[in-house]
This record gives sequence, structure tokens and C-alpha cells, in this order.
Amino acid sequence: MKAVSLFSGCGGTDLGLKNAGIDVIFANDISSWACKTYEENLGAIVHSDIKKIESFPRADLLVGCFPCQGFSLARRKTGPDPRNLLYLEFERALSQVKPDFFVTENVKGLISQNGIATFQDMLLKFGRRYDVSWKVINAKDYGVPQDRERVFIVGVKKSLKEKFVFPEPTHGPGKKKYVNLRKSIGNMPKPKEDEIYNKGFSWHYLSRNRKRKWDDVSFTIQASGRHAPLHPSGPQPVHVGKDKFILPSPEEKHRRLSYKECAVIQSFPRRFKFYGHLEAKYMQIGNAVPPKISEMIVSAIKEL
Ligand SMILES: C[S@@+](CC[C@H](N)C(=O)[O-])C[C@H]1O[C@@H](n2cnc3c(N)ncnc32)[C@H](O)[C@@H]1O
Repeated sequence: MKAVSLFSGCGGTDLGLKNAGIDVIFANDISSWACKTYEENLGAIVHSDIKKIESFPRADLLVGCFPCQGFSLARRKTGPDPRNLLYLEFERALSQVKPDFFVTENVKGLISQNGIATFQDMLLKFGRRYDVSWKVINAKDYGVPQDRERVFIVGVKKSLKEKFVFPEPTHGPGKKKYVNLRKSIGNMPKPKEDEIYNKGFSWHYLSRNRKRKWDDVSFTIQASGRHAPLHPSGPQPVHVGKDKFILPSPEEKHRRLSYKECAVIQSFPRRFKFYGHLEAKYMQIGNAVPPKISEMIVSAIKEL
């Protein structure tokens, strides 16, 4: 099975494809650091704005997670975000690649008030030639040690007359135990100073709890070092008022997760190397689809 990958980032989705035995014949991203990481770990990628790419090769599968910041609730007041229109580039590629299947992923904001008009337009456009299924998936339900809810959309060419069914969760009550922080990062070596974002804890950062316990799964790994969750070691933050937490002293007992710990929580193998300055690394990792989730979905497509 051959795939075309768009908005490929550092390669979270595509590592899942590779692990499922799918050959990525074309990948693209606009970010130079993401492309460097992709190239070093997975192979060739076209470094360009997608709008400048005139033609895409034919393949069996098209994957592409267009950027999602534009659908965040915080954006509502600032008006339309041009990044919200990148799904039209995905649609352009769909008409050229003519795959049997496609997969895309986005934040839950896509199905909120802020993104719903775009979501409906996507379903309409993609639905002309594809039977479209979508589902909100929490990564922890499939063995990834993290609360991470994302909308996955899968299309199957109508002429195939097949229906895609999302695989049932494998972890959670009545199933396998969730994979917790201890199991995932408990035996990682102490990070070096330059592997951790350490520019203090603002009131905004401490407006909610940022520390999960060792026996729990992680908070969502976001595309920013500043917003990285706290490492589970040391005392728990104390809730002192509405939207206000403090970190019991000394503050040095608390630190954010290193970018390498974030990558492992995202289900990247420890050998996967990230390139760029510290913030670029956190961003690539937080932007990624956990490879394990990508593998689970594309394996189900392969089966179909
Ligand atoms: C949500 S991330 C996708 C991450 C990827 N699926 C992974 O698993 O690593 C979206 C990506 O779209 C890229 N991007 C944003 N605008 C773009 C454009 N105009 N052309 C190509 N890539 C773009 C960003 O650099 C970012 O890497």
C-alpha cells in the first residue's frame, strides 16, 4: 500500500504508517526543523508551502493533519484564521491523488462552535466521493500514556462500498490497564538542563493543575515548552482558590517534562531524534499524532 502524506510535521503519523507496513511515497511540510527531523528519521520530504506544490502523485492512501491552532477557542475573538482554510489544499490533493482511503486528524475545537462550519464544509466536500466516518479518540484508550482527545476523520472511496469502523479501545475499565507515567517514563535518565523548558511558572500556567501522579496518564502534550506538563516527581500542586494553584516550595522540586519525556509520552520510540532549538522540538512533538494511534487507524484501513 502506498501513501501520500501532507502536513507531515516531524513524522508522527508517518511513523505509524511505516510501522503498519505502508510505503510513504511523498511527504511535505513548511517547517524546516520538522523537515530536518523527518528526513533524519524517516526519509525524503519536500520542504515547501503546500500551496506551491502543483501536483501530487497517485497513491492508495492520503494522510494529512492540517494545522489546528486556528480552531482553538482563544482564537474566537480575533476573527478568521487563514490556517483554517488549509483543508482546501487537502481537498485539492484528494482530487489528484485519488486514493481509496484518506485519514485526517484535528483538535476537538473542530467540532466546537468555533470550527463547526469548517467541519460541516469538510464533510460536504470530502463526502462527494468518499464515505466519511469520524470519531473523537482519546489516546489513553489505545495504550498511549496520555489524555489526548482528537477528532479523526476517515474516508473510503464510495465505489468500494465498504464502511470504515474505528477499532474498539484496548485500554480502560474492563480492558487492559491504562499505561501510566511510571511505566512510560519512570526509568528515563535525568534530563540535561538544555532538554527542559525552565523559564518559570506564570500565573497563567498555574491557573490549573499541571502535575499528574506517577500512577496516572499524562495531561495532553501540547505544541509548546511553556505549556509542557510538570514531571510527576515531588509534591503535588496545592489548589488555593479559583483557577489558582501554588507549587509547594522549594520551586526547584518542580520541573516541566523534558522534550524527550514528552516524545516518549507521545509514543515515539526513544531512538527517534528531534532537531532544532528547544521550542522547535517541543512544538514538533506536541503537534504530532502519536505514532501508535496512527498505526492503529491505518492498520484497520489496511485490513479493510
Ligand atoms: C498538526 S501538524 C501535523 C503533524 C504530523 N501529522 C505529525 O504527526 O507529526 C501540522 C503541520 O502542518 C505544517 N504546515 C502549516 N502550514 C503549512 C503549509 N502552508 N504548507 C505545508 N505545511 C504546513 C506545520 O509546519 C505542521 O508541521
